[in-house]
Amino acid sequence: VRSIFDAVEARLPERLALATKLIKQHSQAPLHTVTVENVMGGMRGLPAVLWEVSGTSQAGITYHGRTLRELQDLLPRWPGSSQVSPEAMLWYLYTASAPSPVELAEFARELVRRAAGLPEDAMRFCDGLPADVDSSAQMIMTLTSMSPHSKFARALAEGVPKAQMWRAALEDALDSHIFVPLFAARIYSNKFREGAGRDVPLSVHGDIAENFALRMGRRGDKPFTELIRLYWALHMDHGANVSAHSMRLSSSAWTDPYPTMATGLIAGTGILHAGAILQSIQFNQRMLAALGPAPSPVQIDAYIGRVLEQGRIVPGFGHALLRGVDPRLAPIVQFVQGCGLPTDSEGGQLLQLIGRTSTVVPEVLKRRAPKIKSPAPNVDSLSGCLMYAFGLELDFVLLVMACSRGMGFMSQYVWDRALGLPIERPLSITMDQIAAKL
Ligand code: MLT
Repeated sequence: VRSIFDAVEARLPERLALATKLIKQHSQAPLHTVTVENVMGGMRGLPAVLWEVSGTSQAGITYHGRTLRELQDLLPRWPGSSQVSPEAMLWYLYTASAPSPVELAEFARELVRRAAGLPEDAMRFCDGLPADVDSSAQMIMTLTSMSPHSKFARALAEGVPKAQMWRAALEDALDSHIFVPLFAARIYSNKFREGAGRDVPLSVHGDIAENFALRMGRRGDKPFTELIRLYWALHMDHGANVSAHSMRLSSSAWTDPYPTMATGLIAGTGILHAGAILQSIQFNQRMLAALGPAPSPVQIDAYIGRVLEQGRIVPGFGHALLRGVDPRLAPIVQFVQGCGLPTDSEGGQLLQLIGRTSTVVPEVLKRRAPKIKSPAPNVDSLSGCLMYAFGLELDFVLLVMACSRGMGFMSQYVWDRALGLPIERPLSITMDQIAAKL
C-alpha cells in the first residue's frame, strides 16, 4: 500500500526529467504565435499556463490524459456509493494513477485523522465572525487567519531546501483537504444552525463527504452525501480557470496554501466565474415565478428575448473555453434523474424547468444572440439549483464549490513546488505598444 507521499515521490523523477528536457533541449521551440486576439481577448486560446494535473481544450478537460468518462470507469467508489470518490479523484490528480481500494480507504482515514490538528484559535476566530457575514467572506477570512499554522510557511522559515519544499506543501495540502470542508460545515452551522453540531465527533470510518454532512447536521443523509461526492469529484480541477489561475498566480510567489485558497475563493465570487452558480439559481427562480415549471418553447423564447433586450446575461449557457456541452453536465443530469426529488417543491420545479430550458435556450441564443460562440448549457446551469433543491441556502452554495476547487488546486500547488517552477511574471503590453508593432 503506497502512501500519498510515496506515490508522489515515485512519479517525481520522470516528471523532473521531462521538465529538464523541455527547458534544456526545447526552450526556444514555438508553441503558438501570440496574436492580438489572444492579448485583447483575455488570453483566450493561448496555451501559456503550464498545468501538471490536466489539459483543457475546447472539447473539455483531460486529467493526466484521461477524459472524465474514462475516470468514471477507472476510479474506485467509496463503499456504498455510486459516485466517483472525491478522495480517489484527489489521489489521481496527485499521482496520475488510481488508488487501490485499500489505498483509498487508508488515504481517507489519514485525511480524517488530520482533523485532530484543526487549530483551536482558527476555530475560535471562525466562531467569532458575525452570522450575517456572507459564508464565502467568512471562509476567506478564516483561511487567511490560518497562515501561522502553515507547515509550508514553517519549512520556509526553517530553511528547508527548495527541492524538499513539496513535502511541506503536501502536508498543508492534506491538512487542508479536511480542514476546509470542516470550516465550511462550521460556518454553515454558525450561520444557519446556531452552532449546533459543529463539534460532533467525526466518523473515523467515513470519507470527507460523510463527515462534512455530519457536521452540517445531515448525519446519514445518503442522497445529500452522494450529491457532495458527485459535485466535489467533478469540480476539483478545470485547468487555468479564473479561481485556479488566481491560486496559481498567487502561489507562484510561494504564498502558503491557506491564503492561496482564499485567493481562489475571492476570484470565484465573480459572476462570470463561480458566482454564475448563484446567478443561475436566481435567474431560474425568476423564470419559474414568471412561467411555471413547464413552459412551452415559445414562452421560453419570448422570455429569453426579453432578457436579452434588457441587456442582461443568461447565466448557465456558453463557456469561455468549451465549444460543446460541458462534459461535467452529463453525470449531474444522471444524478438528477435518479435522485427522485418531489416535483412540487420549489427545488424540484426548478430542476423540471431546467430540464426544459437546457434544450430550448441554446437554440434561442443561437438565433437571438449569434455573437455567443457556443451557447450550450454549462455546468453552472444545473449544479447550483441542484444544491438548492437539496435544501442548501443560496449563500452557502458557492462554498461547496470552493471546497473542491481548493482541494484540486492543491495537487497543482504541490507539483509546482516539486518541479521547482518559477514565479509567474508575464510582460504587460499597452494598446499603443500593440498598435506600434502592427
Ligand atoms: C470552471 O470549472 O471553473 C468553469 O467551467 C470555468 C472555466 O473552466 O473556465
